[in-house]
Amino acid sequence: MSRNHQTDIVVIGGGLAGLSLALRLADRFRVTILTKRSLNEGSTRYAQGGIAAVLSPEDSFESHIEDTLVAGAGLCDPEAVRFVVENGPQNIYWLIDQGVQFTRERSEDGESHYHLTREGGHSHRRIIHATDATGKAVSGILEENVKHHPNITVRENWLAIDLITSARIDAAGNNRCLGVYALDQEKRKVRTIRAGSTVLATGGASKAYLYTSNPDTSTGDGIAMAWRAGCRVANMEFMQFHPTCLYHPQAKSFLISEALRGEGALLKLPDGTRFMPEHDPRAELAPRDIVARSIDYEMKKRGLDNVLLDISHKPARFIKSHFPNIYKRCKQYGYDLAREPVPVVPAAHYTCGGVVTDLDARTGLERLYAIGECTYTGLHGANRLASNSLLECLVFSEAAAKYIQANPPEKDDTAIPDWDESRVTDPDEEIVVSHNWDELRRSLWDYVGIVRTNKRLARAERRIELLREEIQEYYSNFRVSNDLIELRDLVQVAELIVRSAQMRKESRGLHYTRDYPETLPDDQAGPTIIAPD
Ligand code: FAD
Ligand code: SIN
Repeated sequence: MSRNHQTDIVVIGGGLAGLSLALRLADRFRVTILTKRSLNEGSTRYAQGGIAAVLSPEDSFESHIEDTLVAGAGLCDPEAVRFVVENGPQNIYWLIDQGVQFTRERSEDGESHYHLTREGGHSHRRIIHATDATGKAVSGILEENVKHHPNITVRENWLAIDLITSARIDAAGNNRCLGVYALDQEKRKVRTIRAGSTVLATGGASKAYLYTSNPDTSTGDGIAMAWRAGCRVANMEFMQFHPTCLYHPQAKSFLISEALRGEGALLKLPDGTRFMPEHDPRAELAPRDIVARSIDYEMKKRGLDNVLLDISHKPARFIKSHFPNIYKRCKQYGYDLAREPVPVVPAAHYTCGGVVTDLDARTGLERLYAIGECTYTGLHGANRLASNSLLECLVFSEAAAKYIQANPPEKDDTAIPDWDESRVTDPDEEIVVSHNWDELRRSLWDYVGIVRTNKRLARAERRIELLREEIQEYYSNFRVSNDLIELRDLVQVAELIVRSAQMRKESRGLHYTRDYPETLPDDQAGPTIIAPD
């Protein structure tokens, strides 16, 4: 196999965004999907609660739009919100056509229909799901379909390092994306992939934090690559913390879905008293930023390691049938959900900001598109509404597919140089990389978490600058490895998170700072959009 590869479309990422785009384009184009681990490893596979969409006659687009705008705390782009909500139902039917089996129930008249659950911030039941393992059901089917499509090539364990832009190689014409360099981890070679269109579908950056619900793939690679290629990035201060991850030393932040609270679970202190009604009239079903901040407040005020989530007042049969996987996992860690409360803590969960894209999923760089969690589309504003993320992946993959079909990539023969390894040697001190990973993630957890201050952000800024210098020096001198590439991306994203947080002189949605506790009037606030120099 040669070091150079050519394809019509290269999709970087095999989560819901990447897989659904590949399937939508493959009847017309040759598509290559790169994934840095196995095809099924990414946040999509772990999604639990479901996908929000207006599917019931009692619900309405206006209501879903309103709930999204309220959760987004005045910072959503109303046009993007309407676009996503109105295109939601057809995308759910597309998944059903692909073969996804969502949970059904029988109503009193004996009719079978899809069960819709409820989550925080939603004023209707509108979350379609496959019990409590929606991501597994969705990604399992799409992976099978992708693997059997003759026009799709999947390259597993190929880690994209950097985008190839015409400006970087001094080619003539408008600056445009020509493809990507990727580390083939098995062969330990850097491959050059030339593509007519390049699509980032690389997921979020929650691994920037020490405690996260996300798998190891969420290192913000797409955001960092786009930034280095000259794209704008927005709203990186809005990192979402999920209120309820299981608190157990072996559980590695196992998520306990918000759908439990949707079906009646209550948050309690160790003595059994509820605390959410004191913080918000919507109590356990307030938007996620409010619930996570309330838990953080109670834990700090009372010196607690965790709070409790209790659904044991519901019938055991109901719990086991609605939440079979969560029930089983909790049981493995010694907790019986049907009999007792479980200890929970908040953990980093979702990146609301990302690469700025328009309603066609175009970035500012010609022939580069971005979809899914790595983007800023304007949908989430200052806080994402539960289960709107998988919906965003679907709607923008459909939009990107339509745009690319209407504007097919033109042939471009620009000569692309191979990856240059002539000035690097094998690494001599791997400890630098592992130490810096730990230090970076701990710094963000301690200084850029649920509650921020100017002083904490300045501390994080200083540490990140030092880490960045050290990592850049290492990157310039030594042969690239997995950990090094991801760390280089993560430190870039961490810098963007801190810089965005320092720019916002108010508290809003997921960004709460003691130095500016007030929320500015909406007409004085906007997204934090930053552009490379
Ligand atoms: P991902 O699914 O994260 O996929 C990213 C892909 O990019 C992976 O294949 C990865 O290997 C690849 N990749 C990354 N970097 C590179 C690189 N440099 N080179 C090559 N490949 C790369 N949202 C909801 O709407 N509803 C839910 O119920 C829900 N539950 C969740 C539960 C959990 C535990 C978690 C973690 C998230 C949940 N979310 C939920 C959020 C949602 O799952 C994600 O936002 C969504 O799946 C993101 O999809 P994606 O395709 O953008 O990225
Ligand atoms: C959950 O099931 O609680 C996660 C839902 C989401 O992140 O949207």
